[in-house]
Amino acid sequence: MRKKIVAGNWKMHTLLKEGMELAEKVERFSKEKGDDVIVVIAPPFTHLSKIREVTDLVKLAAQNCSSEESGAYTGEVSPDMLLSAGAEYVILGHSERRAYYHEDNHLLNKKIRLALDKGLKPIYCCGEVLAEREAGKLFEVVKDQLTVGLQGLNTAQFSQVIIAYEPVWAIGTGITATPAQAQEMHAFIRNLIADMYDDRIAGETTILYGGSCKPSNARELFANPDVDGGLIGGASLKAEDFIQIVNAF
Ligand code: PGA
Repeated sequence: MRKKIVAGNWKMHTLLKEGMELAEKVERFSKEKGDDVIVVIAPPFTHLSKIREVTDLVKLAAQNCSSEESGAYTGEVSPDMLLSAGAEYVILGHSERRAYYHEDNHLLNKKIRLALDKGLKPIYCCGEVLAEREAGKLFEVVKDQLTVGLQGLNTAQFSQVIIAYEPVWAIGTGITATPAQAQEMHAFIRNLIADMYDDRIAGETTILYGGSCKPSNARELFANPDVDGGLIGGASLKAEDFIQIVNAF
C-alpha cells in the first residue's frame, strides 16, 4: 500500500513564533488523529530546528536544498544541514524555484541525487504552465520534468521519492484542477513511472496534488484513485484549514 501524505508548504511565511504555534497545533491534531496519513510541514529554514523540538508525529521538510555537499557557496543550505536540523523531506523543483531562481531539470536532478545520497526524501514537483496546457503540451512538459529530473536513480533511490503534480496555473490562484484533470495527469505520471521502473514501483509511488487545494475541494481530489494526498500552500498556513484537508481522506 502506498503512503498517503499531506504536506504543508509554508513558503516565505511566518516568523518563528507564529510558525511554532502553527506547528504545535498541527502536532496536537496529528496525535489525536493517529498515523494513517503522514503529515509533513515545510517551514522556512530558520524555523526547522526549533519546530523539531515541538513535533514528533508531524514530519519536517525543507523547501529547497543545495546541489552541493559543502563548501564556499554563500547562502546555500546543504542536505546534511537540513538533516541535522530535523528535516526528513525536501521539496525540490517547486514551480516558484523553477520560475524565479531558474532551476532547471538538470540542476534538480543533481539536487535530488545529493538529497537521496544523504538520506533526505525529495518531494519532487512537476507541472505545466497555462500556455503549455492550452497548447496541448502538458504531458510532454511533465514527462520531461520527470525523466530528466529523476535520471539515473536506481529503484532503491526512487522508492524514497514523492512526486507532487502542481499545475502552475492552479498555484496560489484559487483555481483548482478539476478532479478529472488531476486524475488524468496522476495516471499519466504513474504510467510513466511504470515505464521508467516497473508496475510494482509505480503502484507504490505517492503522487500528491498541489494547486489551490483547500478544505472545500480536498475530499473530491483525494477520492481519485491516483491522488495520494496533497502539497498545500496557502491553506497550510491556517491550522484549522490544514487539519480539515488532512481529514479529507
Ligand atoms: P497553493 O500552493 O496551495 O497556495 O496553491 C501550492 C504550492 O505551491 O505548493
